[in-house]
Amino acid sequence: MPRTFFIETFGCQMNKGDSGLMAASLEREGFSPAAREEDADVVIFNTCSVRAHAEDRALARIREAKAHARRGRVVAVAGCMAQRLGERMVADGRADIVLGPYRSPEAGRIITGFLMDGGSALHLSQRRGDLATRVDAECVTRDVHPWHRWVTITHGCENFCAYCIVPYVRGPLVSFPSGQIIQSIGRAVQGGVTEITLLGQNVNQYGQDSGDMPFHELLSRAARVKGIVRVNFLTSHPKDFTPEIARTIAAHENISRAIHLPLQSGSDRVLAVMNRKYTLGHYMRVVESIRAALPDHALSTDLIAGFPGESEDDFMATLAAMREVRFDEAFMYAYSPREGTGAFSLPETLSREEKLARLQRIIDLQREISRGRLAARVGLTERVLVEATSRKSPDEVMGRSFLNHPVVLPGGPGDTGRMVSVVIRGVRGSTLYGERSA
Ligand code: SAM
Ligand code: SF4
Ligand code: F3S
Repeated sequence: MPRTFFIETFGCQMNKGDSGLMAASLEREGFSPAAREEDADVVIFNTCSVRAHAEDRALARIREAKAHARRGRVVAVAGCMAQRLGERMVADGRADIVLGPYRSPEAGRIITGFLMDGGSALHLSQRRGDLATRVDAECVTRDVHPWHRWVTITHGCENFCAYCIVPYVRGPLVSFPSGQIIQSIGRAVQGGVTEITLLGQNVNQYGQDSGDMPFHELLSRAARVKGIVRVNFLTSHPKDFTPEIARTIAAHENISRAIHLPLQSGSDRVLAVMNRKYTLGHYMRVVESIRAALPDHALSTDLIAGFPGESEDDFMATLAAMREVRFDEAFMYAYSPREGTGAFSLPETLSREEKLARLQRIIDLQREISRGRLAARVGLTERVLVEATSRKSPDEVMGRSFLNHPVVLPGGPGDTGRMVSVVIRGVRGSTLYGERSA
């Protein structure tokens, strides 16, 4: 009997990587991907718990899928929300089966068991030993782009930032062995891959649990794998970003110059309550070390508006830090209390409307800064990895520069996956456009 699956992914790049692992594992068990959710025998929602809104969106989609489920169809919930709410979701019939993040590489075997003999519906363990299958499977997983792979280098996080649910749902830091990571990248290159993204909640802590090499050395080794045209990495933590990392990037032309360095708040008082373990002064010294080593680079960040106790002065400090650093891009959120985290017991001092108003102010400021950062690229020549045909015109393609800016240029389907040199001519909305340089 042919069996098909469809995976819908929420949340961060770690979840995208895990969806790749689940898809590979299902295919090994004889499942094939369905083009549409409606056609699939097994629908998997790979979920996120980072904010209430992320959970609500996934819960609505799961409800919809359950309501329209035909007989024999399985609705599976995977990822961080499965770990957090899975037991309850199976008990009250909202999900047929749940798999926590540790079980992603075994999704095929687990779901086959469930279909064959009604095997257990709960797969939520967080035993370190369960990660062994992930290490043996592949840390390198597919993306929608055939030339790109997600490379998970660490799993979990033990920084316990006061607002964050991730350490509770993903468990402690586990670094995968460097030898295996580099070997997997080599195999991927033989299969046609040219771009990779090294993934971890804080990649800068790579090896701290296992005594393996430090992150900058792993980054350098990944960049030296023959055939890799671009290495990206996510996420960096300001407390662990060393000058060696910036120097390693500078030493390798094929490492992305886009560094994601979440600041969260510009107020030292708020940063301390958030348990971020750095001050704004330290953050600025890290930025200086990046500027010194890499004259041409881009910085992106995450910011939270309305953390409990954030005063108008604290908030102004965030606006001031944004003006000082001039981030190319920022991912901005209103604080969302998460049960079980350190900050959950702190009384909220702002109403929802006040938090949203502050969020809007940082969004507006960032829009203006991002526009300025893009405009500064006009006249420069950029290396762009082409990703897809433009949705707006069949004669144009869209790609990303080494500063992770989106760039539109004339081209066709034959250009996807290729690196081209582009002279930037202008800015259209939040995108650069240009022409191929001679
Ligand atoms: N590991 C990364 C780091 O250390 O910054 C990213 C963690 S989280 C998956 C992505 C972002 O979501 C965080 O950087 C933070 O800005 C935001 N975030 C996490 N918990 C949040 C919460 N409870 N409310 C609002 N935003 C939150
Ligand atoms: Fe969450 Fe902090 Fe870990 Fe990032 S470093 S995943 S924000 S606990
Ligand atoms: Fe969400 Fe889990 Fe990532 S909570 S942000 S999917 S690690």
